Amino acid sequence: MPITLTRLDPTGMDHDDLVDFMTRNEFGFHVRPRLTREEVEAAIARGAYRDEDNDSCWVEHTELGRIGFLRFEDLSEGTPLFDLRLDTPLRGRGLAADVLRAATDHVFTTMDTHRFEGQTREDNIAMRKTFLRCGWLKEAHYREAWPVGGGAPVASVAYAILRRDWETGRTTPLLWEDLTL
Ligand SMILES: CC(C)(COP(=O)(O)OP(=O)(O)OC[C@H]1O[C@@H](n2cnc3c(N)ncnc32)[C@H](O)[C@@H]1OP(=O)(O)O)[C@@H](O)C(=O)NCCC(=O)NCCS
Repeated sequence: MPITLTRLDPTGMDHDDLVDFMTRNEFGFHVRPRLTREEVEAAIARGAYRDEDNDSCWVEHTELGRIGFLRFEDLSEGTPLFDLRLDTPLRGRGLAADVLRAATDHVFTTMDTHRFEGQTREDNIAMRKTFLRCGWLKEAHYREAWPVGGGAPVASVAYAILRRDWETGRTTPLLWEDLTL
């Protein structure tokens, strides 16, 4: 596995690098595609990068160095979620699949949970294909649930992987229309 997740210290030694990463990249499929220094610093101060629900890592690649940022979310809820952001010049090379595999290994080897979840916009095809490539299953398609500034809302699509699927390498199928009239 070429990926290492390195826990970052948002209020200490990693503060300036975190602000730099979040402000110099654009995140077109997030609710806020452009972040200002003030917004990132306010998020750091309220614990959005590290508190009882959130923990953040740099994503390090054996050959490419630091390639992005990963945050585990909802950590006190029993089923963690994640937010993955690659540095712009390193997108488009399929690197997210190894990152998602490393994140899944981390969750199931260090946390007492049997599910790991992720959500993205319906038009974030790169992220959705990454979920599929890693054996995650689509579990929900929330129509018009994702607000888009200046445009019509799009769907939010939810994926998950079960611990037993991670253990066996086989995705447990879901019968979508399990009840009919
Ligand atoms: C989403 C993200 C992590 C994906 O990373 P990536 O590994 O660079 O993704 P790629 O662009 O290489 O695309 C992954 C796959 O989707 C395919 N793909 C991407 N865009 C596509 C499109 N518009 N149509 C069809 N296929 C597409 C790629 O061909 C690739 O396919 P492969 O697995 O067969 O090689 C990265 O783009 C990113 O950090 N974006 C900003 C933050 C974000 O949106 N994060 C998701 C929220 S959790």
